[in-house]
Parts: sequence; C-alpha cells; structure tokens
Amino acid sequence: MTQDEMKQAVGAAALKYVKPGTIVGVGTGSTVNYFIDALASIAGQLEGAVSSSVQSAERLRQLGIEVFDLNSVSQLDLYVDGADEITAHNAMIKGGGAALTREKIVAAVAKTFICIVDESKQVDLLGHFPLPVEVIPMARSYVARELVKLGGMPEYRQGVVTDNGNVILDVYNLEILDPIAMEKAINNIAGVVTNGIFALRGADKVIIGTPNGVIER
Ligand code: A5P
Repeated sequence: MTQDEMKQAVGAAALKYVKPGTIVGVGTGSTVNYFIDALASIAGQLEGAVSSSVQSAERLRQLGIEVFDLNSVSQLDLYVDGADEITAHNAMIKGGGAALTREKIVAAVAKTFICIVDESKQVDLLGHFPLPVEVIPMARSYVARELVKLGGMPEYRQGVVTDNGNVILDVYNLEILDPIAMEKAINNIAGVVTNGIFALRGADKVIIGTPNGVIER
C-alpha cells in the first residue's frame, strides 16, 4: 500500500464509529479528507458536522453535509482527526495544516477523539516534526525569544495566517520528554493562543494504516 492508500484506508475505517443522526466533529488535513469522502456515503443519515477549519467545512458542504457552529451544539460524541506525530501513549503533535487551535477546541468538546494516521506518524518521542505554535501577531518576536529559552529554534511560517487571524511559529529542536509539561509551559507564554502538543487531551483511539492493513488501538 502507498502512503495515500493507507490514509484512505484509515479514513474509511473511522466511518463505522459515526452514529446515524449525530453531529460528527471533523478535523483537517489530507488524511481527514479521506474520512470526509467516506462520510459522503452516509451524508443523508447524519445530522451534520462541526469542523476544525474553513477548508474542511467547505469540503463537507460540497458533499451536502451541514456544518454547525460549535456554539450551537450541546453534545459532540465523536471527533476524527489526523496527526503529524503520535506516541504509544496517544500524545500528538498537530498543526501542520495550521488548524491546531480549532482542532484543540473541538477535541476538548468531543467525548471521543479518534486519531487516524498512516504508520509514518508513529514516534517514540515527540519533536522531530517542528512544533506549530499559534501566536497573536504583535507577540511574535517575544514568543520566539521565550521559545528559545525553552530550547527550541522557532521559525516564522511565512505567508500563513490562521483561520483565527494569527501567525504560526514552527519550533525545531525541542526535546519533548514530558509532553504535558511542555504543552502547559508553552501555553503559559503571553501571546500564545495554543501549541500543537495534544497531550492534556490525547486521542482515545488510534487507527493506523500499515502496508498490511489497518490496526486499531
Ligand atoms: C492540521 O492542522 C493538522 O493537525 C493535521 O491533522 C495534521 O497535520 C495531519 O495532516 P495530514 O493528514 O495531512 O498528514
């Protein structure tokens, strides 16, 4: 199986967890795009979706799936999203597509978070993938200096403005031995909206695409 075929397989495998008549939380990225494509087959049975990005919302609407504002939804049973890295303890780095803040909000609301990845995303330690940090624009230089004090090498993601009107710093060289402590430490810097470590609220289930098929854990 190619990497794309593995992404497609996990997107399809997540479909069985979507209950008819519910609103499903939908993440962002190339793996989730396959999940959205799979959702098309049950579009008529869904009440709708909540989306973590403008990009996914557009794709959902194109398939005739209604997209709700999170504030109008009282209960969200399921959130399905990809990851840039995931550990055996289900801590993740997310935000390669710059949608980390909305992803963290939807993940926080959902009862169950299912992460769908191809096997290349599995790691022993987080941090090889540069950690995305969403920052209020006026705080960019200050936050960068504080991230250097934490041992990282921040790089401004040129030309990217998030759906929330902010900027992204990608942090290289961070040693993330304790993901929860690092998630909290970076979120405590004034001007940080959030960072891409998902450890305080990790995934509840992971669906992994391998060349031999799909594994769930
Ligand atoms: C989007 O901001 C990210 O968190 C994605 O979930 C993550 O980058 C995975 O994307 P792919 O499925 O495209 O690898």
